[in-house]
Amino acid sequence: MLPPLPRWFAHRGGGSLAPENTLAGIRLAARMGFRAVEFDVMLSADATPLLIHDETLMRTTNGSGRVCEMPDALLFALDAGGGEPPPRFAEAALLCRQLGLLANIEIKPAQGHDVRTAEVVAGMVADVWHGAAQMPLLSSFSLAALEVARDLAPEIPRGILFDRVPADWLRQLHELQAVTLHCNATYLTDDVLQEAGAAGIPVLCYTVNAAEKAKMLFARGVCSLFTDRLDLFAPETNDYKGLHSPG
Ligand code: G3P
Ligand code: MG
Repeated sequence: MLPPLPRWFAHRGGGSLAPENTLAGIRLAARMGFRAVEFDVMLSADATPLLIHDETLMRTTNGSGRVCEMPDALLFALDAGGGEPPPRFAEAALLCRQLGLLANIEIKPAQGHDVRTAEVVAGMVADVWHGAAQMPLLSSFSLAALEVARDLAPEIPRGILFDRVPADWLRQLHELQAVTLHCNATYLTDDVLQEAGAAGIPVLCYTVNAAEKAKMLFARGVCSLFTDRLDLFAPETNDYKGLHSPG
C-alpha cells in the first residue's frame, strides 16, 4: 500500500547541506522538518547494502575503486564526509524508522548486479519494516531490480524511475505492479502528467532546487519533488519558503 506522500523529499539524504547519502544528512533532513528522504543503495563486494550513489568511490569518499569490488573491511573504514563511513543500509533504515521519516530507497545496482541488489535490499526492508504502520517506497531505474522486489516482497510499494519517461511507461508500471512514477523534472511532459492523472498514479520529480520551478511543477499536477536545497524548506508550512500549501 502506498504511504501518504509528502510534497518534499530530501535528495540523497541531506541534499547539499550535508555529505550525500550519510546518516548525518538524514538526521539533518529530519531536523529541518522534512518528512521524507531519498537515498541510493548499492552492494559491497560482500553483498552488504550501503548508501552510495556512484559505482566508484572517488567522488563521495576518500577511497578509490569500485564499490561492488570493495570488501566491507576496507569500505566501511572510508570517510564519506565529516568523518562518517559510508552508512550500511541497515543503519539508515533503522534511523528512518526512529525519526519517523518516509524513506524512498532507490535501489542503485552496480552494472550487472541488479538481481542480487534487489534481493538483498527487498529482504532487508521486509525485515526492518515488518509490521510498520508506514512502509518505505522502493524505486529504481533498473526494471530487473523492481521485478525482483515485486516477486520477493510484493507488500513493499514500488516506484518506477526514469530519466525521460518512455511512451509505454504505464504498461511497464502495471507490469511491475508499481504505484508511483518518478522522473527527471526537466523532461516531464503534460501528456505523461495527464496519463498519470487519469490512471491515479502520483508523479514524483527529481531534482528540483528552485522555488519557481517547484511552483510550476506542482501547478502542473506533480505530487512530490526531490530537492538538494534543504535551506529553502520551511517546516511551518511543510513547503519551500514562499510556496504555501495545505500539506
Ligand atoms: O530517485 C530520484 C533521483 O535520486 C534519481 O537520480 O542520480 O540522483 O539517483 P540520482
Ligand atoms: Mg537517487
